[in-house]
Amino acid sequence: MSSSSVSSSKEAKTTVTESVDSLSLNTLVSDTTNSKIPEAETKKLSEIQTIARQANPPTQSSHPSSTAPLENHLKRTSPFDFGSRYLSSTDDVFAWNAWDHVDPSQDSAFVSYANAQYTFQRENAASEFDRKRFNAEPEKWWDKFYGNNAANFFKDRKWLRQEFPVLGLATGVSHAELVRELAAEQGGLSTVDKGLPVINHEEDMPDGPWNTILEIGAGAGNTVFPLISHNRNDHLMIHAVDFSKKAVEVMKRSELYNTKHMIASQWDMASDQLPEGLSPGSVDVIILIFAFSALSPRQWKATLKNIWTLLRPGGEICFRDYGRGDLAQVRFKKGRLLGENFYVRGDGTRVYFFEEDELRRIWSGQLHQAIRDSLVEEEEEAHDRSPDTKDADTQITIAFEIIKLATDRRLLVNRQKQLKMYRCWMQGRFRKPLDTQLS
Ligand SMILES: C[S@@+](CC[C@H](N)C(=O)[O-])C[C@H]1O[C@@H](n2cnc3c(N)ncnc32)[C@H](O)[C@@H]1O
Repeated sequence: MSSSSVSSSKEAKTTVTESVDSLSLNTLVSDTTNSKIPEAETKKLSEIQTIARQANPPTQSSHPSSTAPLENHLKRTSPFDFGSRYLSSTDDVFAWNAWDHVDPSQDSAFVSYANAQYTFQRENAASEFDRKRFNAEPEKWWDKFYGNNAANFFKDRKWLRQEFPVLGLATGVSHAELVRELAAEQGGLSTVDKGLPVINHEEDMPDGPWNTILEIGAGAGNTVFPLISHNRNDHLMIHAVDFSKKAVEVMKRSELYNTKHMIASQWDMASDQLPEGLSPGSVDVIILIFAFSALSPRQWKATLKNIWTLLRPGGEICFRDYGRGDLAQVRFKKGRLLGENFYVRGDGTRVYFFEEDELRRIWSGQLHQAIRDSLVEEEEEAHDRSPDTKDADTQITIAFEIIKLATDRRLLVNRQKQLKMYRCWMQGRFRKPLDTQLS
């Protein structure tokens, strides 16, 4: 199920998801949470809330779903369609918590505001002192984050196996079973689902087995625990790694921590060592969900090299992360910009916002160009002297096949505060070519 259709079906009538003023990391990472907004918070109205109140989202009049009965566009669609709840000119925008495929580029007032914000952020970038402080030991800030927020983590990401069919295969569930299972959870198949051809994802996939998963930047286990709780593959082993040792402790303390199917450990994805217990080519699937964005562009290359080394030929990467223009980016205030599209949050954790073309370049072998584009001028010279994507030691070009890469744009609505928030995420499936030699 696409994450949008998660919210479009069951959660459409629940209390709204993320309030703008509570776009903390915790709520940003979640796609939807059901937390109620404290009354005290509703009283103050910040600048960003004013903008979110005034947002004038574009509507679609010609899409078939806009004239269909509402219950028809609440149900799931194929992976990467990101839901089919289109906002039409006759819809009350506050009738539902979220609308799919809403592109803010057609809301000229919002675009002007966003551009003014980017200019302001550049003119008031983080000081040299802060750039050094927050880039030096990022794990320290993540430790603080997990130390402070230990109780608020768990999200059951039911959409994972729908968006990333390989995770269904790894957990021993065929696509047909998955559709039935998800439909049962939602109270029955919709008319849309009944007419859906059952896709045989096995045919799209290179040969298995899909037993060894590595989740990088696993955090509190928001991905690994749902996978394990639905698992039917006796041979499944998920290595859940994170740079923050506090995050690893949070996972290990969970009552869902199951050593038969998972092992949590500390690892820096940009380091020059592989995680404990994993050798080159030993991993079938790598999950990167809201984790790659925690890196500085200067760490991309080392990370890609590790991923390339760990993944077996034919192995797949499941990727989801923040997209450029997301309201979380627009709202950053002064002193937060560390580099182009790269920020430090109030709690000291870092976040990068990606563009679809940029991700295509990063993963398909044009990493050098992508890094250069992302660096501020004074960094470019140093980068130009560093070796290209072709690794200096092994002479291997790191180029994954892009199976799918898409932008997930959504309008989240806070009915209580009458806010309309433009959110943007990137989602991709990348594969190490089958004919790659193990180095
Ligand atoms: C935004 S959180 C996402 C957590 C989790 N994937 C989720 O979606 O709930 C980013 C995570 O990446 C971890 N992280 C940051 N830098 C890392 C690095 N160099 N290597 C491994 N993990 C890292 C952080 O500790 C944090 O847990």
